[in-house]
Amino acid sequence: MNLSKLLVLGLLHLLPIGTIGGPVFVPDLENRTPGIHGSDRQVVKNLSSRDDVTKNGEKDCPISRLLLARTDDSPKEKRLSFPKFTSPQTEAQQKYQSVYNAIAQILSQDHRSYGPILVRLAWHTSGTYDRTTDSGGSNGGTIRFPKEGNYSSNNGLDIAMSYLEPIKKQFPFISYSDLYTFGGVVAIQEMGGPKIPWRPGRIDKGESESPPDGRLPRGFESGPKLRKIFDAKTFPPQQMVALIGAHVLGGCHKSRSGFAGPWTDSPTTFNNQYYLRLANDEYVIREKMDTLPQFQDQATGRFMMLLADMALVDDPTTLPYVKLYASSQAVWFIDFAFAFSKLLELGVPFKNFQGIVPIQFDKKSG
Ligand code: HEM
Repeated sequence: MNLSKLLVLGLLHLLPIGTIGGPVFVPDLENRTPGIHGSDRQVVKNLSSRDDVTKNGEKDCPISRLLLARTDDSPKEKRLSFPKFTSPQTEAQQKYQSVYNAIAQILSQDHRSYGPILVRLAWHTSGTYDRTTDSGGSNGGTIRFPKEGNYSSNNGLDIAMSYLEPIKKQFPFISYSDLYTFGGVVAIQEMGGPKIPWRPGRIDKGESESPPDGRLPRGFESGPKLRKIFDAKTFPPQQMVALIGAHVLGGCHKSRSGFAGPWTDSPTTFNNQYYLRLANDEYVIREKMDTLPQFQDQATGRFMMLLADMALVDDPTTLPYVKLYASSQAVWFIDFAFAFSKLLELGVPFKNFQGIVPIQFDKKSG
């Protein structure tokens, strides 16, 4: 046993040793062992770093075993390697940041084509949740099967799923149900939106587990009906209004929904223009009769609103929130991030997350 090891072991007896959640952690050991160098320095570093040690989850690895496992007088190749100090939380953060980066890379090639539809996929795979039966929601990823995928509300979402298929191939550990929700998170963040806390844990299920059709709102719902639909998914009116602001992105495609056109001139930038238009602009019924009934802005005719969008200003319960989010994008970002994160977890059993708390991922777009 060499001198530096003796020194470390000696110090271990003298220093207070904190044990938080099982693993051992030695406070301030690094500063108090300036004479230890080389590979032993790393041992000291690991033992003294609260981050590394307290979160490590390596409960069966007490400090003494860790140190004794390594003897400097044994031949190098026979040395036992040190266990890696990574907690499930840190591990998930790193693993899924790689997935995030790969999705962001695809998005960066063409925000317009990929971004909005990935957000819509995340919404449609999660928005099937029904609280009275505690069924539906993102867990299961059943939208990938023909039964749910072919519901008319999901027209076009096969395109979004096909964008994510190479990511599934590259990172087979991610479930489809995690991937379809995570794609929406990446898209929102990369298009300038708020950070959306997200965590893995959804488990794929078979086609027979598909939720029934008709749980998602249609374009011509009235205000009270909309509130009822969102209430069934646990969303009070304010959260409902916060969520629908995602209509700043993308647009309607006649071949998919029967409606046509964008809501804003910001289809690939996540901002509060949707509320500004709703609160300030005049809308009239679209003149051209080539779509399902929809509104267009009176001034230019370039921007559309669904009857369901207009219901947010017609309904006195929801109008104050439209005005609130029109007056403050910052407030909307906070409310949206909360509501969207909640949406993506509806119906996912808590135990699936295995103690991992929602993670905020770094943006790639800066
Ligand atoms: C009142 C509730 C809602 C109704 C009636 C509704 C309806 C629609 C319709 C009809 C489209 C056009 C689809 C197409 O033709 O391609 C659409 C697009 C879209 N919706 Fe919603 N939606 C609602 C809520 C939401 C929510 C809560 C989100 C997200 C949080 C969302 C995100 C989007 C996005 C991003 C698009 C654009 C997709 C693209 O450009 O491909 N929607 N929605």
